Amino acid sequence: MVFFILVVLRFFLLLEKNFCLLIFNLYPLFKLINDCYWIIVKIFLFWRMHVFLFINKICSMQNKKEILYHKMQFDSPYRSTIAFWDWILSMPCMKGSDTILDIGTGMGSNVFYFQRVSPEKKFIGIDQNVKLIEVAKKHLLDNFVTNISFDVGDLYNLSKEKYVGIDGIVSLQLLSWLENYEQPLQSMFDLSPRWIAASSLFYEGCLESYTTVRDYYRPDIFGNNFSLYHYNIYSLDKVKKLFFDHGYPNFYFVPFHIDIDLERNTKDLGTYTITTKHNERLQFTGPLYLPWYFIFASK
Ligand SMILES: C[S@@+](CC[C@H](N)C(=O)[O-])C[C@H]1O[C@@H](n2cnc3c(N)ncnc32)[C@H](O)[C@@H]1O
Repeated sequence: MVFFILVVLRFFLLLEKNFCLLIFNLYPLFKLINDCYWIIVKIFLFWRMHVFLFINKICSMQNKKEILYHKMQFDSPYRSTIAFWDWILSMPCMKGSDTILDIGTGMGSNVFYFQRVSPEKKFIGIDQNVKLIEVAKKHLLDNFVTNISFDVGDLYNLSKEKYVGIDGIVSLQLLSWLENYEQPLQSMFDLSPRWIAASSLFYEGCLESYTTVRDYYRPDIFGNNFSLYHYNIYSLDKVKKLFFDHGYPNFYFVPFHIDIDLERNTKDLGTYTITTKHNERLQFTGPLYLPWYFIFASK
């Protein structure tokens, strides 16, 4: 408001400068207003530049970390990716499943692995992150891979026409990192695939845990000194019922037990294992236990 009044006054005084000088001798006032105007403009520009530089720095830090996380998987796919695809291929309706959509594909490293194992199938990877999809497309061109395509897309806003005729949907490490599973699964049901499979965190019973993690190692782009992530554990009974109610009566699940030890190198988020005295290898990230499962539901 003050700024606006100063601008109006300055404009008026500019027009009337000579008149004012002659008649009212208001030059000191004119100078004061003029100086205030430029001080405010400079402060404003300085502030905007700093906010811009700050956001830019945070974004590029976030992107670099995220890109590194996905790139590592091009060379050595996660044990969970390998185990997931082995298990999916053992499902009865996999023969004749020609086109598979991977939602939340990241840079598509999972899809590149699936395609290497099952070159006869066609894969489409979608992710809402434009940067990750750009890298996925570049990797596609650099390696002359066929039978894979990538699209930028939001799970909650998928075009039915575009994905008509897909046989199955996979999503790895996605559901538990969203606010809930009902809406994402509804978006998948809307595309009417013959089957849907996912890897996420589940519990064998009628209990669910909705957890948010504040990661103070990563400030977010909104000026908070932490990033916020979901790490939800969903009830397998409830998920099974949801599938049943939407015409997917065949429901299978299997826990994923990792077959190697993972060191805890950092207090940051990153999976590490602890072996119990009963020789069970449990997976953790930061302060959280990760009950990994694969699920598969078909019509
Ligand atoms: C934890 S990463 C998993 C990436 C990959 N599936 C993997 O297993 O390595 C989750 C991915 O889901 C994407 N994602 C999150 N919400 C999404 C949405 N609404 N629509 C599309 N992609 C989404 C993120 O951009 C991110 O790349």
